[in-house]
Formats: sequence, C-alpha cells, structure tokens
Amino acid sequence: MMEDTILVTGGAGFVGSHACIALHEAGFRPVILDNFSNASEKVLDQLERITGQRFPLVRGDIRDAATLRDAFQRYRFDAVFHFAALKAVGESVRNPLAYYENNVSGTVILLQVMQEWGVRSLVFSSSATVYGEPRYVPIDETHPIGSTNPYGWTKVIVEQLLRDAAKANPKFLALALRYFNPVGAHESGLLGEDPLGTPNNLVPFVAQTAIGRRDHVPVFGTDYQTADGTGVRDYIHVMDLAEGHVAAFRTHHEDSGFKPYNLGTGRGSSVLEVISAFEKSCGARIPWKSAPRRPGDVAVNWADPALAIKRFNWRAWRDLQTMTDDVWRWQSAYPNGLQERTL
Ligand code: NAD
Ligand code: UFG
Repeated sequence: MMEDTILVTGGAGFVGSHACIALHEAGFRPVILDNFSNASEKVLDQLERITGQRFPLVRGDIRDAATLRDAFQRYRFDAVFHFAALKAVGESVRNPLAYYENNVSGTVILLQVMQEWGVRSLVFSSSATVYGEPRYVPIDETHPIGSTNPYGWTKVIVEQLLRDAAKANPKFLALALRYFNPVGAHESGLLGEDPLGTPNNLVPFVAQTAIGRRDHVPVFGTDYQTADGTGVRDYIHVMDLAEGHVAAFRTHHEDSGFKPYNLGTGRGSSVLEVISAFEKSCGARIPWKSAPRRPGDVAVNWADPALAIKRFNWRAWRDLQTMTDDVWRWQSAYPNGLQERTL
C-alpha cells in the first residue's frame, strides 16, 4: 500500500494540508482537490518547502462530478481522504442549505464517482459534534448520536450515508474519524490554521490576540462547574490527528464496513489553561475578559480515545504546551496567515 495515490479533498485546508504531510511521510502520494473557498493556494508552496515535493493539485469542487471524473481518470486513486466541508457552526444556523449542499450533496457526488471508478476506501472527517450534547464524559464511540445545529447534522447524515453505502457494498470501507478539538500547527512554523475573518475557535483567537490583531480574548463563561469555571475541551495537535488518519487507514485498508473512531487525547484543558500555555509560548501576557456563555456551549467535553489507541498502534502524544508553541511559531512567522488580507 506504500505509494498508494490518495485523493485528499479539502487538502489545502487546515487538517487536510497537515494530513498530506503525514501521508507523504508514510510513503503515500497525496493529490489535493480543493475549491479554495477557505484556503490559499500558497499552502501548496508551504507543503513543498516542508516535504520537498510539489503535490499535484486539482482546482475544483467536490460537487462537480465532471471535475471528479477527470481527476479519477488521471490519477487512478487507491483511496479518498475526505476533508472538504464547510465547518462554521453559527454560519450553518444562518444558511443551512449551503451546508447541506456542500457537505451532504458534495459527499454523495464524491461517493458516486468513487463507485464508478471502483475506489472502495474512504476516510471521512467526522466530528465529536455527532455526539450532540454530551451525556457523559469521556465520550466513547457508543455515546448516542445527535446534533444541535445544521453543521453537526451534516456530519450525522454523512455518517449515515456511509453506513448505508457499506451495507449495500460489502467491499466498501468507510472510516469516520470523529475529531475533538484540532489545534496546533506544523512544527516548522510554515503551515497552520488560517481562518478568514474573525476566528470562531479559541486557539486562533488567542493567537491573533497574542500577535496584536485582537485586543483581548472573550472568555465565554467563567461560571461553569469546572475547576476554574471555564469550559473544558480535548485539544488535539493537528499532526497527531494527521498521523491518526494514516494509522487508521493502514490498520483497516484491507477491511470493509463502516468504522467510527474518536480521535482525541483523552485529556481536557480549560480556556484559562489554554491562554496560560499560550502566554508561556509567546512570553507575554494575553489580555482576556469574562464574557457571557456562548449559546450551545457545554461545560466539558473530552474523548475516550481507547478504541483508536488499541486498534491503530497510535496515540496523540503532543501536549498542550507543544500545541501552543507550534501555533505561536506559525502565527509569529505569518501574522496575517497566507491568505491575502491586511492586519
Ligand atoms: P478548512 O476549512 O481549513 O478545510 C476545508 C477545506 O475544504 C478548505 O480548504 C476548503 O477550501 C475546502 N472545501 C470546502 N468545500 C469544498 C468543496 N465543495 N469542494 C472542494 N473543496 C472544498 O477546515 P478544517 O479545519 O481543515 O476541517 C477539515 C474537515 O474536518 C472538515 O470536514 C471539518 O468539518 C472537519 N472537522 C474540523 C474540526 C475543526 O475544529 N477544525 C473539527 C471536527 C471536524
Ligand atoms: N471560547 C472562548 N472564547 C472564544 C472562543 C471559544 O472562551 O473566543 C471557549 C468556548 O466557549 C469553549 C472553548 O473555548 O469552551 C473551545 O471553543 P471552540 O470554539 O474552539 O471549540 P468548540 O468545542 O466549541 O467547537 C468544536 C469544533 C466545532 C464542533 C464542536 C462540537 O470547533 O466544529 O467542537 O463538537 F462543532
């Protein structure tokens, strides 16, 4: 399976680009397909600087069957790693149709073209959001499924699609990797998270505050039932996550069926712990202010990653300090990220 050619949809994005590095390091040949709705083409240059390889690029959309067919014909993919999606929870509430169209219809078209070309393995970016409101922590894969917003439902629905596709085709393999909170950056400082507009997520917001693009971090809720009153999450380094994809695929490439796995560390960190780790990374105080709880947020959420650890011979070993150190290296080298914008 070394040298397998892998279609990486959304491969210019945050998680997909780091997955391309992990694939390359493991001897695979990633081909990136991206419509650049939330990424810069400069990611390809950065990947080349890191790996010494120019990865082939298909500029296109997963909803465009003709583009997909051309790419499948040209590259003869052995498997698909499917990262392409819209992912902003708030935006999905305001514009649900765009989310169902991109994330669900796009995946249906991708699966149809995979079927036409006899490509039987898919690794799908799922999310801890498929567990809806956590009923207990740590969350294992048997936790009930549900959602609280359209983005989350797109992940639940795609998982169901994959379950049904695997039932109908006994050769089909679908690995649904349920990420907890991906953060961090490549250790080179050349590649990292590069959100457009105001970041929705904590770590990019803290990073932009540290670099001076924001004046303070709003801490959404300081009266939760947690040790310091702030929300607790399972932050996982994006390279651990990337390596988890490769480990999952290596373990299961000859298998079939729908297989969901949590990818997390099994450890929770509070908002204030994240800010404090970042202060150590950048060597300065990061201003923050108490703000009201964000609607839909829960107090605590972390993974039970035991299943992935047991099956894949993998674990997330990079700690919170490594995550914030790597984000700071990236943020300070590229204060404005790679996308064209001003401070
Ligand atoms: P991202 O926005 O950085 O990457 C997604 C990439 O897909 C972008 O480069 C975007 O341009 C591309 N894209 C979107 N729609 C497309 C389409 N129709 N055709 C072609 N390309 C398209 O996001 P990310 O953080 O790297 O997330 C990757 C995947 O992981 C997504 O499926 C996301 O839902 C999932 N996920 C992310 C998180 C997180 O917190 N980052 C958590 C859980 C799950
Ligand atoms: N937070 C702040 N200030 C901010 C941003 C976030 O205090 O400016 C807090 C949140 O209240 C939460 C923690 O930081 O306690 C983490 O928030 P993120 O937005 O970074 O992450 P979430 O856990 O809320 O969201 C993640 C994914 C979503 C997914 C959700 C549920 O980013 O895609 O988990 O699984 F839907």
